[in-house]
Amino acid sequence: MNTRRQLELLDLHPEIENMTLEVCEGLKKQQKSLSPKYFYDERGSELFEAITRLDEYYPTRTELALFDAHLPEIAELIGAGSCVIEYGSGSSLKIRKLLDALSPLAYVPVDISRDYLLTNATVLAQDFPQLTVLPVCADFSQFIALPEQLGGMSPIGFFPGSSIGNFEPEHAKQFLGRVANTLGSGGHLLIGVDCKKDPAVLERAYNDAAGITAAFNLNALSHLNRVLGAEFQLDKFEHEALYNRDAGCIQMFLRSTAQQQVSIGGSVFAFDEGERLHTENSYKYSPDEFIRLAKDSGFGCEHHWQGADEYFGLYLLKAL
Ligand code: AVJ
Repeated sequence: MNTRRQLELLDLHPEIENMTLEVCEGLKKQQKSLSPKYFYDERGSELFEAITRLDEYYPTRTELALFDAHLPEIAELIGAGSCVIEYGSGSSLKIRKLLDALSPLAYVPVDISRDYLLTNATVLAQDFPQLTVLPVCADFSQFIALPEQLGGMSPIGFFPGSSIGNFEPEHAKQFLGRVANTLGSGGHLLIGVDCKKDPAVLERAYNDAAGITAAFNLNALSHLNRVLGAEFQLDKFEHEALYNRDAGCIQMFLRSTAQQQVSIGGSVFAFDEGERLHTENSYKYSPDEFIRLAKDSGFGCEHHWQGADEYFGLYLLKAL
């Protein structure tokens, strides 16, 4: 087999930001904050995998059940001759289920991390020998032009896992607008979005009894210690996750248990006892809210599915 043809990288050379600068900017603010992207070093990705298997963390399992129940119908709605564009690359069960159901002509994972992208793309190319795999190394918060090899195929974007929840609603709208542009009129987007529900259920999902989410949250600090030579003392911060009803999101923080100073490459940041460092927002959308947001971004909702518990929503959108 000629693997050079089956797999071809398009490198859009995403700008790599200055991490120290970005982290320090967030720590200088009145409400200290850190981007959730710092959760995901190798250990953080492992901890996230462990989160997806927790009893309390319903989203992954609920979304997978929706896939199992509805992928045949989704494949029918989309038809033959498609190409799948995945925002953020995974070698996970979800993309495999989608590729099995749709038998698309091409698969285009988009990810900012070149190594991660190529590793996953290579494995999928081996496991799906009929599939043309065209990884694109790019920052998907920017507009992405699709590889020209996709001409004539019907594009279907794929953004599972309620990853959209990490964007502020205004940014979610901008992101979806760019996706609609990339896909072009008539293109589909299959997106999984966590629903609003009883706050007790939400808070349990982010405060698991085994403390995996706490370890995941604290790991952002280990990551900064290792990569930036920061000097966070992990035993002086505590995990906190609360549902903010007004904003409609779970908010995660690391609460300083003492008055302390933390140095990062020459800068020093003071924390009061009890002061919180904000690490993540995870927005939840009722179906009405999400369909409104999609419409405001240039999509119509062709179909949506929810399990009996209405915990999670799967939406098939079509770019107008
Ligand atoms: C990957 C953003 C969908 O918000 O549920 C899980 C991340 N944070 N537990 C989510 C997360 C804490 C997750 N997303």
